[in-house]
Amino acid sequence: METSTSKALSEQEIRDFLYFDEDIAERRIVVRAQHVHKTYDLGRIKVKALQGVDLCVFAGEFIAIMGPSGSGKSTFFNMIGGLDKPSAGKVFIDEVDIAQLDAFELAWLRCRKIGYIFQSFNLIPVMTCLENVMLPMTFAGVPSEEAFDRSCNILRQVGLGHRLTHKPPQMSGGQQQRIAIARALANQPAIILADEPTANLDTNTGNEIIDLLVRLQEETGVTVISATHDMKILDRCERVVWIRDGRCERIEERKNMDIQIGDVSGE
Ligand SMILES: Nc1ncnc2c1ncn2[C@@H]1O[C@H](COP(=O)(O)OP(=O)(O)OP(=O)(O)O)[C@@H](O)[C@H]1O
Ligand SMILES: [Mg+2]
Repeated sequence: METSTSKALSEQEIRDFLYFDEDIAERRIVVRAQHVHKTYDLGRIKVKALQGVDLCVFAGEFIAIMGPSGSGKSTFFNMIGGLDKPSAGKVFIDEVDIAQLDAFELAWLRCRKIGYIFQSFNLIPVMTCLENVMLPMTFAGVPSEEAFDRSCNILRQVGLGHRLTHKPPQMSGGQQQRIAIARALANQPAIILADEPTANLDTNTGNEIIDLLVRLQEETGVTVISATHDMKILDRCERVVWIRDGRCERIEERKNMDIQIGDVSGE
């Protein structure tokens, strides 16, 4: 993969930059991964899925995590989403070390602070569109009338106001991913973690989903972190983190990458 035409910023350079650029200095860090390692222990075989990843994500940015299959993207997601624990290293959300949270606090973080979007949608097929979106609100203790109203509004926002009582199997892939996005937004999270949100969609539907994520990020200020192989996402995000073999190869700003996109898409 040729990337020599663009300027790569290392994590250290970004940190150094913070002291000189007032715009960036004002940006709050919402997620900080510090030397994160993950080794899966399969008895005689140990898989080193992450080997010391460092990353700061700023509030309100759209950041893409790119890398080949097996490079550790989903593993990294599970770490920063509090769904699994690193073998070594730390993850801070709003500067709180999530390893220090008890089970109740961690459940609160997963329910309120982070919205998850998965490649395979992970919707409940026997529930309607509306019920799928109301579910996280019910877990969060939102009264059912308020949950109903809020879910209708969010579903309208994602263009599914006319499909409230349909069930996921009766809907297209793009519509199902819209429900998943609506569900991720249910408890007004500060962070959306999207693991390959366009992977199961055709090009046009994938573009609609990316447009929707970008619009939501711009309108609500939610931070979007998306793992992807999809060059269309790369074209719309602010920064790209390149992961290979469980290591962060480099972090690049989108605005410095124009020449590169054509090259990379041929990968
Ligand atoms: N539960 C697990 N047990 C053992 N090994 C695992 C487990 N989950 C992932 N791995 C291994 O860890 C490495 C990273 O996997 P991961 O799923 O994070 O990759 P990925 O970048 O998300 O790939 P893809 O683009 O195909 O989704 C791979 O070698 C994978 O086989
Ligand atoms: Mg993955």
